[in-house]
Order: sequence, then structure tokens, then C-alpha cells
Amino acid sequence: MLDFLGDLRRTHMCGELRGGDAGAHVTLMGWVNRRRDLGGLIFVDVRDRTGLTQVVFDPERDSMLHAKAGGLRNEFVIAVAGKVAHREAKALNPGMPTGEIEVVAEDLRLLNTSDTPPFSPADAALPTEETRLQYRYLDLRRQSMQRNLELRHRVALAMRQHLASQGFLEVETPFLTRSTPEGARDYLVPSRIYPGSFYALPQSPQLFKQILMIAGTDKYFQIVRCFRDEDLRADRQPEFTQLDLEMSFPTQERVFEAVEGMLQAVWEAAGVAGVKGPFPRMTYDEAMRLYGSDKPDRRLPAMADVREAFAPEHLQTLNIAAGLPVLAIRIPGVGELSRRERDELKPLLPARSGSRLFEDAKRLEKSFPEAMRQVRELAAVAEGDLLVLVAGADFKAAGTLRVALGERFAARHKAFSGDIRHAASYDFLWVTDFPMFEWSEEDGRWMAAHHPFTSPHESDMEAVIAQRALGSVRANAYDVVLNGMELGSGSIRIHRQDVQAAIFRALGMTDEEARNRFGFFLEALRYGTPPHGGIALGLDRIVMLLAGAESLREVIPFPKTTKAVDLMVDAPTSVSEAQLKELGIQVRKSST
Ligand code: AMO
Repeated sequence: MLDFLGDLRRTHMCGELRGGDAGAHVTLMGWVNRRRDLGGLIFVDVRDRTGLTQVVFDPERDSMLHAKAGGLRNEFVIAVAGKVAHREAKALNPGMPTGEIEVVAEDLRLLNTSDTPPFSPADAALPTEETRLQYRYLDLRRQSMQRNLELRHRVALAMRQHLASQGFLEVETPFLTRSTPEGARDYLVPSRIYPGSFYALPQSPQLFKQILMIAGTDKYFQIVRCFRDEDLRADRQPEFTQLDLEMSFPTQERVFEAVEGMLQAVWEAAGVAGVKGPFPRMTYDEAMRLYGSDKPDRRLPAMADVREAFAPEHLQTLNIAAGLPVLAIRIPGVGELSRRERDELKPLLPARSGSRLFEDAKRLEKSFPEAMRQVRELAAVAEGDLLVLVAGADFKAAGTLRVALGERFAARHKAFSGDIRHAASYDFLWVTDFPMFEWSEEDGRWMAAHHPFTSPHESDMEAVIAQRALGSVRANAYDVVLNGMELGSGSIRIHRQDVQAAIFRALGMTDEEARNRFGFFLEALRYGTPPHGGIALGLDRIVMLLAGAESLREVIPFPKTTKAVDLMVDAPTSVSEAQLKELGIQVRKSST
């Protein structure tokens, strides 16, 4: 028989009581985390979002209440009233915030029962990720997930408070809109009123925030959901949240300051003091040369080109073509590798690169002792460092290998295992001066490396207009990188209609195509557009790093699997014929 809550009032949360509360009469409400029957006494840990409190049922005080407690099972919902008592010395639990006290039960109400759950939120061992996602409400009951939700809340709140204090206005932008230019596939929403027409869910509010600058909003931000139909990874979800911002009349430095101040406030809100701007800066070219990546993880040493250490005849013996860089990658503290470990390194170098890996430094040393002495000097190799050489022009491939080596031997070098509560564990970096265009082999044309609303360097404008050497045109585009992950990306925008039209042309769009896709925007640019620029940061990624989590799924309340499925509500699903008909849509059943 279930009890009614009646007018019973909760006095405390389950994680709140301390030694100083001894003697108080309290009422707690929550879930049965565990029940233990010990020599007559029954102990029940009652749990809510804030923690656990141990409640004791003593048959000698109240045998009826004790019998009722005997019927409690995991995840039953209860209200307990009782008196807070100090635990005996041997029962103190310093590992638990409420471990000094227990509540001696005087009343128990059973508010709801629970079927035996497929897994217990009380268990440290996790079920499979599928089970966790299917029963997300049980998974979220776990303390670590509650902590992540709370952290996410604090991060978002700190962003709002900080940006509001700096004169930014939060403005909402539509979800039902038209295709935006971030380069992923759109999620489409069919229109019932205009059969055959579709809205697109925004990949970002890019054009709306620029239009807000045209509209005089001056400083905009929004914590906003974005939708991208792209291949998913641990740091990508099909719907994710951005902290999006835009400013009028900014220099790049002003955007950096705004972001640095905000990140400092966010890290403080997460309990990490000492993050401060200005963050170091590095150009894209430098990042590629030193790290083989546009999001360098500087917790490991940079690569060094050590080709000069080898005489031409050495290079010939090693079969390294003249002029190719020879990159030294060193990972400190890894120590010597076994033969097998060395053999396993080859596949870590992307095969398409055509680069060659020399993973046996010892062997090279035997054949070329003097050259290798110089290599060690040039790359500052120390005792215990893992050293490999990569010969080839593909810096990106070497950079991929560098990070893969770092990850593979993370347990030995410790560079990745800094305490997430300390500012020193966070390496922030601005990467600047990205190329404006990237050549797409697939499409056989130039694409915008960031997006087509990014302004090129003024000194490169001539090349854009003449459409020559597009590969070396630099953009006023920047990324903020943290520990080798892209946190955010932005740019100073084009505010002139003629420049915007030139960029569309350089991207191989005819004026008519540009008008069809972005006509509304080109028109808006004609009406007094101020210089403007901004950035968007991945909120999920920020929370993931602050939580020390391995995947975005740990910090998004209701995430999707890597196959873009919501296992809890079972989406996507097919819909009824009637719904399709109303939308004027016919589904062709695929034969596979
Ligand atoms: P961009 O496409 O680089 O820029 O996105 C900005 C930031 O959003 C995060 N992010 C994602 N997070 C989780 N899952 C995803 N699928 C995902 N895709 C992106 C990343 C990324 O750095 N409109 C521009 C910004 C601008 O120019 O102001 C934009 O959206 O952390």
C-alpha cells in the first residue's frame, strides 16, 4: 500500500546534513539507494540529486516502522522523518559528505515502488552504453551524471552572467529556417502548407547573428542548439549547443578579450581559478609546421624538422627524396619500446600520406651515430623520450601520428592526466590566420575553409578579386583550442556587399546561384552594415573537458548514439501514411 505525501514538507536535501545538525528533526525525500539489514537494525541510504543520507530503523524503537522498512527495495521513493544523530566512531564514513551523521527514523512514507531496475544507479560498475541511453532516467540518477548536469548548468549560467555584464544581449533566432553555410548536411523539415518545400534546421545561427549586427544589436550572444547531419564521433553530436556571439566594430583582439574573459568566468564557476587571458597565439602556418595540426595539443613537445642533421648520402641510403622534411616526434617519459610495440606504430601514420616512419631510433643510431646525435640536439631529446622520425611532406599525417602516439602511451607520459581542478591542466591557445580557401578534390573546386562570410586579409583582397593563388589567401579567421581540441571558431566577417560577391565568385558560385541561396543576405548587406565579427564555442565540449569526461554523451542530458539514434524515445521512426500524405511526401522503400 502506498502512502500519500499529504502536507509533509521536506526540510533538507539528502546531501546536506552534517555533524552540526545532530539533534535536529528532519524530513528527507528521495530514492532508496541501498537497504542493508544488519543484526536487527535496517540501514537505508536515501538518495536525491545532492547525495545520500543513511537512515536507521531500530526494531526496539518502533517495530512497525522497522517492518515497513524491511519491505523497501532499491529505487522505491520514500519520505523519512527522524532525528539526526552522530554516528558511532566506528561507523563514521569520511568518504561521504554526510558520513558523520545518520537519521534515526521516526516516520516512513512509501510514495512509490519501482520495478527491479535493469541496473542500479548505486552501482559503480556501468552497464553498456546502450542500456544507459535506453534507461537514461536511471542513468541520470547516478551521482556523477547529476554532477555533470549541475556543472553544465553552472557553465551556462556563468556565460550568461558574464556576457550580460559586458553588454551582450541574448537574442533568439529561428530553428525553422533555410539552409546555412557550415558545410554539413542539413536536417530538413517538410512544410505542410507548401508541399514539396522544406525548412532547414540551422547548422548555426551564422546569418541571423550577422543580420542582428546590421540591425544594430551591437553585441549579441545566444546559448543555442545547432543541428548537423554529419558523421559522429566522441566529440560530435547531431544536435549540440553553441555559445554563439557576435560584435559590431570589433578588432580580432576585442573578440579574443571577450572570449578570454568569459572562459575565465566559466572556469571559475566550475571551481578552477587561475585561467587568465591573454591566451598564447599561433598562426595556422606555425601550428601546421610545429604540430601538424590546426588544433595543436601543446601538452606534448612540438615536432622538429631535423633533415639538416643528415648528409645527402645518408638521405640517399635511407631512400629519402631530396628536399623532403624529416620530422622528429618525441614523447617524453615513454621509455624504450618493445619490438612488438614498435611494430604496432606503423598503422598509426595515415597511409595516404606517402610519408615514411622510422620507428627504430636505436637502429638509426647504429648506422648514423653523428647524424642522430644532431637529431637529438635539434629535437631536444632527453633520456626516456620516445623518438620517431617521419620523412615526408605531409605535416598533417605526422601530426596525426604524434597525437596517436601521445594517446597510445598516455599511461606512461602523464601529460594528458593533469588534475582537472587546476588551471595548469588547461592549455588554451588561439590559432589565427587560417587559409581562406581549401581545394576540394571531391568537388573539384575551392571551398570556404571556415565559411563564405569570413573576411580575407585586406592585403590578399586583390588575389581574391583576380581569383589567383586562392590557396595562399589568408582569412581573418581564428580558433580557440584547448588541450588539442577545437573549442570554438570564428572570424571577422565581410561587411561589404562587393567583397561578399567576390568571395562567392571565387567559390565558383555564379551571381545567380549566390542570389538564389543568399539573396536576402546580400540585400541586407546593402543597408549600412557595420564591420562585425564573432565566434561560436561548443558548450558541450567545454563541459566535457571540465567534467573530465571522454565523450559528449556524458554531459548532454539526452544524447544520441554514434548512429544518431535516441534510444530512449526510439527516434527517428517512420510516420503514418496520413502524415506523409498531408506533407505531400512519398517514401521510396529502399531495396537494401
Ligand atoms: P563551427 O562550425 O566551427 O563554427 O562551430 C563552432 C564550434 O561548435 C562546436 N561544434 C560541435 N560540437 C558538438 N558536435 C558537433 N557536431 C559540433 N560541430 C561544431 C565546436 C566548434 O568549434 N557559425 C560558425 C561560428 C562563427 O563563425 O562565429 C560556426 O558554427 O566546438
